[in-house]
Amino acid sequence: MKKSINTLLKHSSFSKINRSANPAVVRASTILFDSMQELASHEKKILKNKSITHYAYGRYGSQTTIELQKIVKELEQAHHVFLHSTGFGSVSLVFMALCQSGDEVLVADNVYYPTREITEKLLPKYNIKTKFYNPNDIQDLKSKITKKTKLIFVENPGSITFEFQDLKEIIKLAKKNNITTAMDNTWGTPLYFKPLSLGFDISVSSATKYFSGHSDAMGGTLSVNKKTYNKVKLCDKLLGSRLSADEAYLIIRGIRTLDIRLKAHQLNTKKIINFFKKQKKIKEILYPHKIGSKNYAMWKKYYSGATGLLSVVIKAKKKSSVLKFVNKLELFGIGYSWGGFESLAIYHDISKSRNFYKFEKDEHLVRIHVGLEDPQDLIKDLKNCLKFIR
Ligand SMILES: Cc1ncc(COP(=O)(O)O)c(C=O)c1O
Repeated sequence: MKKSINTLLKHSSFSKINRSANPAVVRASTILFDSMQELASHEKKILKNKSITHYAYGRYGSQTTIELQKIVKELEQAHHVFLHSTGFGSVSLVFMALCQSGDEVLVADNVYYPTREITEKLLPKYNIKTKFYNPNDIQDLKSKITKKTKLIFVENPGSITFEFQDLKEIIKLAKKNNITTAMDNTWGTPLYFKPLSLGFDISVSSATKYFSGHSDAMGGTLSVNKKTYNKVKLCDKLLGSRLSADEAYLIIRGIRTLDIRLKAHQLNTKKIINFFKKQKKIKEILYPHKIGSKNYAMWKKYYSGATGLLSVVIKAKKKSSVLKFVNKLELFGIGYSWGGFESLAIYHDISKSRNFYKFEKDEHLVRIHVGLEDPQDLIKDLKNCLKFIR
């Protein structure tokens, strides 16, 4: 029977080892073989990528990580999925695997700050030049392509300022110029948008976020199409960032309810946005909610759903009063990351890390992750604390 992805998320990786509804956690460095010949045949299959179900040493995977690979492969409609110990391990591998000395990369100006740091602090060591392009201007991207451009890296939407780009146009430009395309798809997850199906070569997700969903595990997935597989494979092997069996188990446990949780995040977020819309101190809500806006049009064109991460631009004379707003919130934790069950809020100063996003005087940005709490409680909490803003 052909099953929908939401059913597969529930039914995949039943353990054949112990008949349990979940996979076994196989912690292993050494994998044992009956003979040298069997070991050699295993390694040959891995090298030829005949199947992802072969492993010869803990660093190359275990039965548990393979189960996660299978699920993500389905979700992403990928040729192959590489797993790493963090989302950032997957992001940095894209650059290390695809670029070499003399190359140029084009990176959207709105990427997650550590991604920007790779391009500013690490790539110059290898003589790889980065140009940042305005995510709101495809002509800017076009004008920056040269014969040396080897990679376009997109984060859609940018996870602080939430610009949605016209992804088909980017792919068209890249194909015309023989450039590899990679997208950080952590916000939408492959449940709401599949980068590889649209034509991206690489799709990256921080599994730490919605895949895991419970703020207790870290991991990264790097999914590739057939054409890009060989370009990533060797670097992936040699850099050695690996997902542990325990983390893979937690991510599998989380991913089973991805569809249900995302629906609830989306519903709660809608309610919070409706509340924010009525607040004078909130100057702008950065989320694809405004019908008629470019962001809404681009989101609608490519995505089948929206998730729980957004930002608000607050007008306030005193930065300290915005910090007080965040500090006083009872139900919104202060901390990095997002995508878990719980609500979070964090003040972001992006004034020095962006070429194209400009704040007006007295504008401040607070990023909010809307969790799975009762939305009326969240609204009460926000209402109680907005009064501190001056
Ligand atoms: C958009 C985005 N991509 C990648 C990462 C990196 O993921 P991880 O924290 O799992 O290394 C993050 C982390 O916050 C993120 O927000």
